[in-house]
Amino acid sequence: MTSTLTNVLVTGGAGFIGSNFVRYAIGAHPDWHVTTLDKLTYAGRRENLHDVMDNARHTFVHGDICDAPVAGPLVEAADIVVHFAAETHVDRSILAAGDFIRTDVEGTFVLLEAARRNPKLRRFVQISTDEVYGSVAEGSSRETDELRPRNPYSASKAGADRLAYSYWATHEVPVIVTRASNNYGPYQFPEKVIPLFVTNLIEGIQVPLYGDGGNVRDWLHVLDHCRALDLLIHQGQSGEVYNIGGGNEVKNVDLTHQLIRLLGKDESFIRRVEDRKGHDRRYSVSTEKLRAMGWQPQVPFEQGLADTVRWYRENEWWWRPVKERDAEYRAYIEQQYGGRRAH
Ligand code: NAD
Ligand code: DAU
Repeated sequence: MTSTLTNVLVTGGAGFIGSNFVRYAIGAHPDWHVTTLDKLTYAGRRENLHDVMDNARHTFVHGDICDAPVAGPLVEAADIVVHFAAETHVDRSILAAGDFIRTDVEGTFVLLEAARRNPKLRRFVQISTDEVYGSVAEGSSRETDELRPRNPYSASKAGADRLAYSYWATHEVPVIVTRASNNYGPYQFPEKVIPLFVTNLIEGIQVPLYGDGGNVRDWLHVLDHCRALDLLIHQGQSGEVYNIGGGNEVKNVDLTHQLIRLLGKDESFIRRVEDRKGHDRRYSVSTEKLRAMGWQPQVPFEQGLADTVRWYRENEWWWRPVKERDAEYRAYIEQQYGGRRAH
């Protein structure tokens, strides 16, 4: 790694948002060398980085963030750390939470300990989530609001979020914490609602809509997320928290109808199933703080959704093998939700 380049470590860079960020960062910053550290769990794939894997300004390291001898030296060599690596799927955390505690909390601890030993570290971005605020009945969560996570995934993320903050408050590690809303776009693993529903509809399979379908999520295009992170890496203030939201609050049932229309299907493709346990009704973040810094989302939701559908249509090579490999999990989920109809 050349000393004239800024050395950026991206954990979880073979996942959905991480891979989009690695691609974005290499394109946007000719003076950056990006190192991806990824364990390649079921959700992480070399294929996500296929077009940047051999780039001279990218190094891929297959490793676990919990493994201090592997992760530590990479953090110690970095100018900037962007920490995406996590177990991320709420349904999986409801089935078994151990890996969430291990990676999301302990893994973050390993990275922060190494960050303490790196005096040239300029920025440690802790990628948190809007889920740490818990379900929001009215209004929008501000960065200073109380954290009330309600599922094992969001509780693990809240632990990591506050642990990262504590390393700023205690050890002056230059941490910023970001809390983004639901991302969508290319390379998202087909367990999350948009890629699951889109690929099911392409395959001619029904889509399992949880509960009454009235839960609300705020959709953020992954590239708008990347642009926000770029701004915050350069202009964020250590010790601060920043919400990142797309401003597109949509009920799941309406999202489902939009997808059905885009894929030329009809209502008969919706299967109402039992609700997710402890299902958060609504997330909503105030993005006033970030917008005051000059950021705003650039991708209108309708356009972003249509582009995303097109991407899954055109990239069956990417998702078909994953869905086949993941069949065991999907069968299990099917048993959990599918067997017990809501209506
Ligand atoms: P993802 O599940 O697609 O990817 C996670 C990546 O982390 C994978 O590549 C996986 O292999 C890697 N990983 C998991 N455990 C690891 C370990 N122990 N060591 C090294 N690598 C490991 O997740 P995503 O949706 O891209 O989310 C990325 C980050 O953004 C997460 O921290 C998540 O909590 C946060 N986030 C996601 C969303 C969203 O809507 N997807 C919204 C807000 C915040
Ligand atoms: O809000 C940010 C969070 O968004 C991230 O921190 C998480 O990592 C990410 O997984 C996502 O969490 P959600 O639980 O909101 O995403 P998911 O795609 O799993 O579900 C979105 C909504 O769709 C939720 O209300 C549950 C519903 N759903 C989901 C699936 C998988 C269904 O109705 N049917 C489904 O099959």
